[in-house]
Amino acid sequence: MRIRNHALRSKIMTAADAARFITNDSTVGMSGFTGSGYPKAVPQALAAQIEAEHAAGNPFKVSMWTGASTGPELDGALAKANGIDFRLPYNSDPIAREKINKGEMNYFDMHLSQVAPMAWQGFLGPLDTAVIEITGIREDGSLIPSSSVGNNKTWLDRAEKVILEVNSWQNEALEGMHDIYYGTALPPHRLPIPLVQPDDRIGEKTLRCDPGKIVAIVETDSPDRNAPFSPPDDKAKAIAGHILEFLGHEVKVGRLPASLLPIQSGVGNIANAVLTGLIDSPFEAMTAYTEVIQDGMLDLLDTGKLRMASATAFSLSPEAAERINRDMHRYRDKMILRPQEISNHPELVRRLGCIAMNGLIEADIYGAVNSTHVMGSRIQNGIGGSGDFARNAYISIFVTPSTAKGGAISAIVPQASHVDHINQDVQVIVTEQGLADLRGLSPKERAKVIIANCAHPDYRPLLEDYFTRAQKQSYGLQSPSILSEALSWHQRFVETGSMLP
Ligand code: COA
Repeated sequence: MRIRNHALRSKIMTAADAARFITNDSTVGMSGFTGSGYPKAVPQALAAQIEAEHAAGNPFKVSMWTGASTGPELDGALAKANGIDFRLPYNSDPIAREKINKGEMNYFDMHLSQVAPMAWQGFLGPLDTAVIEITGIREDGSLIPSSSVGNNKTWLDRAEKVILEVNSWQNEALEGMHDIYYGTALPPHRLPIPLVQPDDRIGEKTLRCDPGKIVAIVETDSPDRNAPFSPPDDKAKAIAGHILEFLGHEVKVGRLPASLLPIQSGVGNIANAVLTGLIDSPFEAMTAYTEVIQDGMLDLLDTGKLRMASATAFSLSPEAAERINRDMHRYRDKMILRPQEISNHPELVRRLGCIAMNGLIEADIYGAVNSTHVMGSRIQNGIGGSGDFARNAYISIFVTPSTAKGGAISAIVPQASHVDHINQDVQVIVTEQGLADLRGLSPKERAKVIIANCAHPDYRPLLEDYFTRAQKQSYGLQSPSILSEALSWHQRFVETGSMLP
């Protein structure tokens, strides 16, 4: 029995009936983070309701807040129905991405740690309805979280109405894995967060919710999105190899302990490959203080190399999700899922000294990183938690293949067409070509190392030529630039389909 509170059972209804509580022009806070723990039935029923209203000639759109990306049943369905007017804070759904890039959907791409505080500060406006997936409801009415925590605590606190989806696909043994911290406050009442080790538990195991706000409960039995990871290719393996060598060197010279420092690993296949590479590394008793737990981290936990992992969500392949589900009791003692304002908190990332590893779209020769916009204008996903970690990490590493789109695009460019991470927040850049350790280097020294170690051989001579000429022609020589040429590679790609001349 998933709903152990008798009084709340009277609120059980169909998804279609529950969706009717959501009205045109309202703001909805949904659960969901990187394809896990998002509501699966109500968003689809809402999409059907929106389509029916549109067919009848009536306007119907909502503003939608989540934890991060969700699944096709949520972002995909609502974007397809033209039902989203405004979206925050992170999206990776292809249909929503197209709508955003066509200018048909407003998107506020923001640091994930800042979403909950900004909602409390009132900058985002009121929240009408929260739609939250949970694993169950306890006798006392407290909610057992699902496979992600994200911003659920804040949505439940802030929303006027609450709709719950109780998903029996989620393993009941999730109960006890979560750590929901209720001690955050707004200035001038903010206090230090009492977490000093990645495995500290500082909160409660369940989410609080005023039962008076619960208007509907929908029962579901549906899997999380759980996209498969592609097996690491040669480039990903080479990148992982460079990072492992670098970390080994840092241990050898005494700048990192033998068990490293808590690892943060970003989204995507390369991040997963690096984790897989750590299995054969000499590091023991590692910890992770990160945003999502991927397949690679599960493998590391299984080998015992990783002692524990703290995150806000799972981001697993279907096979890994099954594996974790089979053995949840065992994994529960090695994992903690927290609200994203805690998993990504700058204070904690700085205190713990995380080793941050995130993907990039392009970096320029001085090490400014673009994580979000293709050709300076087309959003790929969003900044996600990369800024939360990169600025505050002990070592901030960015990874990428040296080219994209079959070699037509260089990931190392004269000037980034959009900047998410300024060069002060980027300490190490790694491609399959090699690793650039930029710590303590001036801009011109950085340029030499990045071009020599990270650029693809097809683009390296072009970058060397640009950098040589820039040092003769530039207005200033701190970060030499030829303004009329700095973005010409991007322009060439837009015009010809390749950055190569
Ligand atoms: N120009 C054009 N497209 C590019 C590109 C570039 N310079 N670099 C990457 N891409 C495209 C790839 O071609 C691919 O497109 P496709 O899906 O159409 O094939 C897509 O971006 C993903 O790139 P991929 O090489 O598969 O890497 P990835 O899965 O590691 O993703 C980011 C890279 C940057 C998109 C991803 O890491 C991201 O969204 N980062 C920002 C958020 C973040 O860092 N979150 C973690 C914080 S905890």
